[in-house]
Amino acid sequence: MSLRQTLSEFYPPKPTFTDKDLEDLGGKVYLITGGTSGIGFILAKTLYSKNAKVYITSRSAASGEKAISEIKESAASSHGELRYLVMDLGDLQTVVPAVKSFLAQETLLHTVWFNAGVMKVPSGSISKQGYELQWGTNVVGHFVMNKLLMPILLTTAQVAPKGSVRVVWVSSDGHSLLSPKGDGIDWEDITTRKSEGWKGEKGSMTYYGQSKAGNVLLAMELAKRYGNEDIIGVSLNPGHLKTNLQRHSNSALAKRFEGLVLHDPSFGALTELYAGFSDAIGTDNNGVYIIPWGRVGKIRQDIEAGFHHRGTGKKLWEILEKETEEYVLTA
Ligand SMILES: NC(=O)c1ccc[n+]([C@@H]2O[C@H](COP(=O)([O-])OP(=O)(O)OC[C@H]3O[C@@H](n4cnc5c(N)ncnc54)[C@H](OP(=O)(O)O)[C@@H]3O)[C@@H](O)[C@H]2O)c1
Repeated sequence: MSLRQTLSEFYPPKPTFTDKDLEDLGGKVYLITGGTSGIGFILAKTLYSKNAKVYITSRSAASGEKAISEIKESAASSHGELRYLVMDLGDLQTVVPAVKSFLAQETLLHTVWFNAGVMKVPSGSISKQGYELQWGTNVVGHFVMNKLLMPILLTTAQVAPKGSVRVVWVSSDGHSLLSPKGDGIDWEDITTRKSEGWKGEKGSMTYYGQSKAGNVLLAMELAKRYGNEDIIGVSLNPGHLKTNLQRHSNSALAKRFEGLVLHDPSFGALTELYAGFSDAIGTDNNGVYIIPWGRVGKIRQDIEAGFHHRGTGKKLWEILEKETEEYVLTA
């Protein structure tokens, strides 16, 4: 990944793919994690305005209801449908029943955006199952969802247009700028469950970068495993956007930096829209990484080399399968 690409991710050219390029989505079913605020909320509005049936996830019924009523208000003439699933990605006990409830309601799923995420959580924060909180939320929770959703995605791929059934992993340029050098992941770190009182010695932003490297690797590995069955895996950096993601960054310096680089979140929703619908993405470049506001980009070189020459995607997939099998197998 070049300096030129890094700079263009901070200050991207104008978007070339917008909601105007979307056909009518009546009869299609989409799922977005984290649809209550930020990028996911805006993406849900766009899909709903095109008459899709859209599921969002929320951490409480109240926030799900609130988001849905606001989305409905934004597109009063839509013939689409909106539903929410309550789950906390940081607690696998809540993820499984939420996905099961989705599967009880639907027979098709045209694309899922693994969009929810947390960043810069207080050092030492852990998920319910004892993972560093950003790893637990951004990676482990989504991995379990993906495993449980695979059958419905494969069924949909048999009847949907080629290349249209996608799993979009929302990463960040943090995968490149912040994650550990080499594979992007410290392997020992992700297999050791933490207990209360753990200090988070690497620093919160390194763990964030590691979780986003995990998202990139999972998109590529998914493409490798399911590409033959016409499932497309995509990862992306949505861009630097003014959302609730920065809720934990309170220093004056951070605020000043953010003032210089953060854009309106609607641009990030365009990056996610491109990843979900652009025909520049398909079987030929399955596993691709998308940069703001909808362009094909490159991931960090050592992470790419790790995937192709050291089998890091396979390794991560297998570790996560082992770590989460008690939740997936009993679902
Ligand atoms: N904003 C940026 O500059 C930027 C840059 C690069 C990448 N990204 C990525 O873009 C994605 C969307 O972020 P955003 O900027 O839209 O941030 P946001 O406004 O904070 O939205 C994040 C969403 O994720 C949900 N969420 C957080 N923790 C969760 C959990 N444990 N379980 C379930 N849902 C949870 C939030 O729900 P609540 O409403 O309940 O909190 C919210 O709906 C993230 O993956 C982020 O890493 C953002």
